[in-house]
Amino acid sequence: MRNFLIAGNWKMNCGIAETQSLLTGIKEIQDSMPEGVDGLVCPPMVSLQAAADELQNISGIALGGQNVHFEDNGAYTGEVSTQMLNEVGCDYVILGHSERRQYFGETDKTVNAKVNKSLEDGLKPVICVGESLKQRKADEHKLRVRKQVQAALIGVEYEDAQNLVIAYEPIWAIGTGETATPDQAQEMHKMIRAVLADLFDKDAADQIQIVYGGSMKPHNAEELLQQTDVDGGLIGGASLKADSFTDIIEIADNLS
Ligand code: PGA
Repeated sequence: MRNFLIAGNWKMNCGIAETQSLLTGIKEIQDSMPEGVDGLVCPPMVSLQAAADELQNISGIALGGQNVHFEDNGAYTGEVSTQMLNEVGCDYVILGHSERRQYFGETDKTVNAKVNKSLEDGLKPVICVGESLKQRKADEHKLRVRKQVQAALIGVEYEDAQNLVIAYEPIWAIGTGETATPDQAQEMHKMIRAVLADLFDKDAADQIQIVYGGSMKPHNAEELLQQTDVDGGLIGGASLKADSFTDIIEIADNLS
């Protein structure tokens, strides 16, 4: 019913030359995405144009930004607008990644403003939520994530539900090599879908892709993607190598 979404979050990696060589490597292995799997890569801003050019030769992999501002334009040094992302060919934008929340002062409120602005201007937000280790140990992870989802979606219209992606990324699993167990991931994804059903309705919630992020690799992707409510991955480290990224695409293809 739902396609898998296999998304690469390149973070602050890959300038223009490396972007070209990584995407050339991906194209050599996989020049079109299998049916049932949506692909996405999110390079740094300065590499978006180079990526857009390379993606002309790979069908089914979309382009996304890693952040966007909620104003149209103006005196916001260092920021980019939805219009700029549209112009370079982005269909998606990652919002509220825990690294942005932790290091760049992103809050539930700014994430919410960015979500609404992105949807208004035709970009699909990949909204990142997830708890810290401390919150999980205190058994507050469900409450925390529920609140993040609700806060991110204030003011989002029913018609826009189909354009959202939620990424559940437990902070303790990001870049650490530690992964949520398949049961932990399923439990959280199921809860997120219930929150979405409350906010919209069950039909809408059943269509929204909820992807897992946090040390997803070829060796653990299968058990995670097998879970009923895990609809793909937001992949950092393993998306920076053509073979590990395409291995995960192949695993999703086999399960779809
Ligand atoms: P990781 O990053 O796969 O390197 O853990 C995932 C993410 O932060 O989106």
